[in-house]
This record gives sequence, C-alpha cells and structure tokens, in this order.
Amino acid sequence: MKLQEAIHQRRTFAIISHPDAGKTTLTEKLLLFGGAIQTAGAVKSNKIKNPAASDFMEIERQRGISVATSVMAFRYRETLINLLDTPGHKDFAEDTYRTLTAVDSVVLVIDCVKGVEEQTERLMEVCRMRDTPVMIFINKLDLEGKDPYDLLDELEEKLKIKVRPMTWPIGMGHNFQGVFRLYDRQLDLFEAKQTRLGGDILTFKGADDPALREIIGEAQDQLMEDVELVEGVYDPFSEENYLHGQLAPVFFGSAVNNFGVKELLNTFINISPKPRGRESDNGLIDPENEEFSGFVFKIHANLDPRHRDRIAFLRVCSGRFERNKFFHHVRLAKNFRFSNPASFMAQEKSIIEEAFPGDVIGLYDTGNFKIGDTLTEGTKFMFKGIPSFSPEIFREVVNTDPMKTKQLDKGVQQLSEEGVAQLFIRQPGNKKIIGTVGNLQFEVIQYRLKNEYGASCEFRPLNHFKACWITTDSKAKLEEFIRIKAPEISMDRDGNYVFMAPSAWMLKMAQENYPELNFHFTSEFKTEAGS
Ligand code: G4P
Repeated sequence: MKLQEAIHQRRTFAIISHPDAGKTTLTEKLLLFGGAIQTAGAVKSNKIKNPAASDFMEIERQRGISVATSVMAFRYRETLINLLDTPGHKDFAEDTYRTLTAVDSVVLVIDCVKGVEEQTERLMEVCRMRDTPVMIFINKLDLEGKDPYDLLDELEEKLKIKVRPMTWPIGMGHNFQGVFRLYDRQLDLFEAKQTRLGGDILTFKGADDPALREIIGEAQDQLMEDVELVEGVYDPFSEENYLHGQLAPVFFGSAVNNFGVKELLNTFINISPKPRGRESDNGLIDPENEEFSGFVFKIHANLDPRHRDRIAFLRVCSGRFERNKFFHHVRLAKNFRFSNPASFMAQEKSIIEEAFPGDVIGLYDTGNFKIGDTLTEGTKFMFKGIPSFSPEIFREVVNTDPMKTKQLDKGVQQLSEEGVAQLFIRQPGNKKIIGTVGNLQFEVIQYRLKNEYGASCEFRPLNHFKACWITTDSKAKLEEFIRIKAPEISMDRDGNYVFMAPSAWMLKMAQENYPELNFHFTSEFKTEAGS
C-alpha cells in the first residue's frame, strides 16, 4: 500500500472521561458499529471500583493476557480507526497523559447528570498543551441531567474551549424523545434499551416543519425556540477551529442505549485529523516522510514473574515499519529489529508485517526501552513531548531486605522507566524518592517489587508539596540555590535538577527570591528547550 494512501485512511484517537461517565460503554458501541465485536460486554472495563492494589493487579493480569485492550483497531467504512484505551482511575492519570501524546484527537465523554468533573478538567489541560482536537459526547440523556445550556456553559468555562452543539436534545430523562441534528435537520428518535444499531431517522425541512409536530407533539415549540437560540448564540461550526483544538463539536446521546453514537462516529471519520506531523529535535517530522520513525509512549509489563519480558507500545509517526528490518534506537545508539511486532485488531493480537503512521504496535522488549524512546531509519532524532508531570505524593524507599539491595535498585529503576511512578535521587546517600499522583501506585510498586524482583521495601512519607524542574541561564544562581536548598534538591532519572518544594508558600518564596530561575511543573520544558 502506498504510504500516502495508508495515512489518509487512518485515524488515531482516545476516549477520555471522568470514571463512570460512560467511556467503556461508548468504546464498546463504537466497536460494535465497526463490526469489531459482535456482542455487548466484550470490552473489559479497566475500572477499579475499590482502590486496592490487588484489584489493580487483577485487572492488569487480565489485560496482560489480552493486552489488546490497550489499543483497539477497527475499520469503519473506509477508515482504519486506532482507539487507544486510557485508564479511568485517577491514580493512573500519568498513563492517560502519556497516551494522549500518541493520539491525534480525543473524544471526551461527559455525564449529563454530573457535568464537568475534576478528572475531565485535568485531562483537558493535557489536550490543550498540544492543541489536540476534541469532540464532546454528552452521555446519559435518558437520565434527568443538567439543562443543556448550562452544560454547554460549564464546558466552555471549565474546559476553556469554545463549543458548538451539533445535535440538540428533545427533552431529557423520562421525556427524552431524541435528538435533532442541527447540521442536516434530521431527527433521531430515541428508543430505550435499543438493541439495533441506530434508530429511526426522519428528515424534516426544519425544526418548524409541521410534520414534526405529529411525532414529538408540543415539544416542537421548545425545539423551535432552542434551535433559533442555538443558531443565534453559537457561530457556525468551523472545521479549522476544531482541528486547531479551539472549538469542540458537541453531541448529545445515550451510549448504553446505542443512541447518538452513530452521529458521533460519522462526524468523527469525516472531520477528525489524519495522522499528524510530530515535533522532534530535528524539526517537524511529516508522516509522509519515507523514512520510518516512531516513539514509545507506554510499556506494559508482563505480570507473569516467569516471563520478564515487557511490551513497549510504539506509535508510528512516519514512513513504514517493517517486521525484521533494522531500525535505530536513538538513545542507545544501537540497531534493533523485531521479529514479532504485534498489532491489535478487534481485540485479537497478531503479528504484523508492516505498520503505517497512526498505527500503534507492540514490541517485545527485554529492557531496552523506556518511555519516550525514539526509533528511526536513516536520520537520527528524538521526538519531543512525553512530559512528566509534577507528582503529588512523595515517599522515600526504605530497603527492608539488605540481601536484595541490587534487586531493589533494578526494580525501582525499571518500574520508573515503565512509567509506574517517577523516581528522584537525593544526595547524600543516593536516597530514592518515589513520586506519584495516587496512593494506589505505592501498593502496586511494593507488590511488583516483591513478586517480580524478590525485593522488599517500605515507604517513608515525605512532606513535599510539588516537584519543580529548574532551568536558568544563570549558572551562578543555580549553584547558589542548590547549595542553600540542598536538602530539598533531587535529580530526576535524566539528571535534571528538581526542587522538592515543601509547601506552596516555600515555592512562592523561592520564585520571588530567585527570579533568575524558572520553576516548571512538567518536564516538558526539556523538549521545549530542545535538549
Ligand atoms: P467509564 O468507563 O467511563 O467508567 O463508564 P462505564 O462505561 O463503565 O459506565 C458507567 C456506568 O454508566 C455503567 O453502569 C453504565 O452502564 C452506565 N451508562 C453508560 N452509558 C449510559 C447511558 O447512556 N445512560 C445510562 N442511564 N447509563 C449509562 P454501572 O451500573 O456502573 O455498570 P453496569 O453494571 O451497567 O455495567
């Protein structure tokens, strides 16, 4: 297949939501539409209901057997869609942030009863960092939710993005009759517990068409008013603004009832971006560049202790990936070839011969990869932008089995390379500090160190507010700061200085007293600076 043709056919995206908004349900419906699965219930929820490490490990174990749930590729009409899974639990938000670096657009699911929730806001911040195009699906219209206007206002205000409704709900909850498609004046009639894919669709001349009254009765008056208001208040939909991440088209529906999903999917394949170029330290890499390139954004450990291998998930960015061909691992300055690269089509893992930009492939790894690694062919460069975010909880690793010090060191190092948590080293004494966004990860780390490395540890709580990466043009000021703040200075795993601010106030003081220093809350600055 020609490279250009392959690129045009592909769409790579992720569904994101606050837990319980309906991400798993929508994923499943999309796969049903794509014919990738035949029955509901086939998609495993990655939800952790009771936050305990054992639950997480159980889910990971199941996923380890069927890693396919990390990437779900399916065809819809002429389009090959790569849908990347994102963990719902907030303790694993880092994993989601990284996955977002590997997609070209996202679909955001909002629960119409709850509106914009905390996790949604944080995920949108990450989308904004790279102007990722966003489509919004307001779910659960079969329940009594918030007023649609209030929901739209809330979206604009909290997510800091302009919105444009593409459909409009007629009633809600018990009175939910369907949605009116503003772009082609068609009416989708709602049918609860619909098992068919797609309901009855009727076409009208407009919201004021007399024929509409026979179907929705008095609700037509409200609809006419709403349509007039919506068309008056919101600018016409602009595809360009959507592609620049400035405007989000909004759909209303009910995923569990198969309702509104088809509109979303049809619009998605029409307007969502095809695989895009990606910034590297050698400029923007065009997907149509004939030389292959890609980067690792996720590493999935094999949780079977008898098999130490891992799967590195690589997003193809340009050119053609081929099985058994040598590619260059830029960080290690070594060539590697892969005899069993896997693709994940419709939940089936299979060996592939080739892959194209937008595709995500699984590479068996015996410890050569870490997150952010770049593979290339010909020109050597590194992709930018797999940021680490400042963790929120910090603990020092305390070795409880001195006979297993080596195993502990190796385990902590490898788990941090996998992205389970961030590792900081503090002198004197090479103290290991683990930073995470949730408590659950500490349990997971302890469990995995024991099971996979035979090492034991405890965690000593540390009173840190944030980890801030420091940059400056003034070497003298940096040295002074490091000397004075020595007990609060650590190094990240790449050897960058990090200030572990004990409190918001101390951070503010440091910023005021050292205006020559820049304090960053994500490690993204490194790539911005091109180092
Ligand atoms: P998540 O992946 O975002 O965490 O959400 P998930 O799809 O698991 O959905 C969360 C709950 O919301 C599920 O119910 C699901 O059935 C329900 N749900 C999804 N879409 C709709 C909808 O359009 N309307 C209504 N009323 N409910 C919806 P659950 O009770 O947690 O699980 P289950 O036992 O039903 O699977």
